[in-house]
Parts: sequence; structure tokens; C-alpha cells
Amino acid sequence: MKKLIIINGPNLNLLGKREPNIYGSLTFTEFYDEVVAKYDTVSIEYFQSNKEGELIDKLHEVGFDYDGVILNAAAYTHTSVGIGDAVKAIETPVVEVHISNTFNREEFRHHSFISPNAKGVILGFGLQSYELAIQNFL
Ligand code: DQA
Repeated sequence: MKKLIIINGPNLNLLGKREPNIYGSLTFTEFYDEVVAKYDTVSIEYFQSNKEGELIDKLHEVGFDYDGVILNAAAYTHTSVGIGDAVKAIETPVVEVHISNTFNREEFRHHSFISPNAKGVILGFGLQSYELAIQNFL
């Protein structure tokens, strides 16, 4: 069975409560339970942290063993050379996802340190962005 992991960065633990007009009203746990049941031919783990170093540690931990990483580095997408370098350093392909379309938001969200080293980028489809990324790894 293929091993995938969804890695979520800062503030995404507040999904469902946080700016629901942008990010929707479903909690990530509710969504995660649904996708795990729906895509039962693959193993899908979930990790969330608000700390940059913990996200880098997790990428190192899974990045030479798992079949795919689905990464929403959230605000660190736009600031973190370290997470960008970690994505480059590992062997497992990383699909970058965002819930919102970062290109129709503030200018500072238009740059990503992840994209140059990602297998691909999916953004703007709400939580469905994660599902599209999972489908890529099936
Ligand atoms: C986000 C977009 C980022 O700009 C923002 O900082 C987030 C969430 C998204 O999924 O749309 O926290 O990554």
C-alpha cells in the first residue's frame, strides 16, 4: 500500500473556525476522516504543526521512505527558505497545496519558496485541493 502524508503548517489547526469565508467551515479532522475512508487503497497520515522546525523535521522523517507528501506550509510558504530547502533535500515527491487561490490575495502570498522544488502545485479549490493532490499519487 502506498504511504502518503498530509503536512499542514501554521494556523491550519484552526480550520473551521478561522476566516470561514476564505477557508470554509469544515474542520480538518472532519475532512481528513472523509478522505481516509474514501481513498482506502492508500495509507494517508496527517501531521500539523505551527512550528517551522517541526515541519522540517517531519519532511526529513518521511522524505526518504514515503511515496508522496501533500504539503500546505501555510504562511511559511511565503517566508521559509528552510522548508523550501527541505523539500529540495528529500526524495519523496511533494505536491504543494493551498486552500485559497493565493494569487488573488495579497501580493506577499504570490511568492512560494516551496513551488520551485515541488512536483506540482494545486491551489484555490478549497479542501478539494488536498483531494486532487491525493489523486495524483494513486
Ligand atoms: C494557505 C494560504 C497562505 O497564504 C496562508 O498563509 C495560509 C493558508 C491556504 O491554504 O490557502 O495560512 O496556505
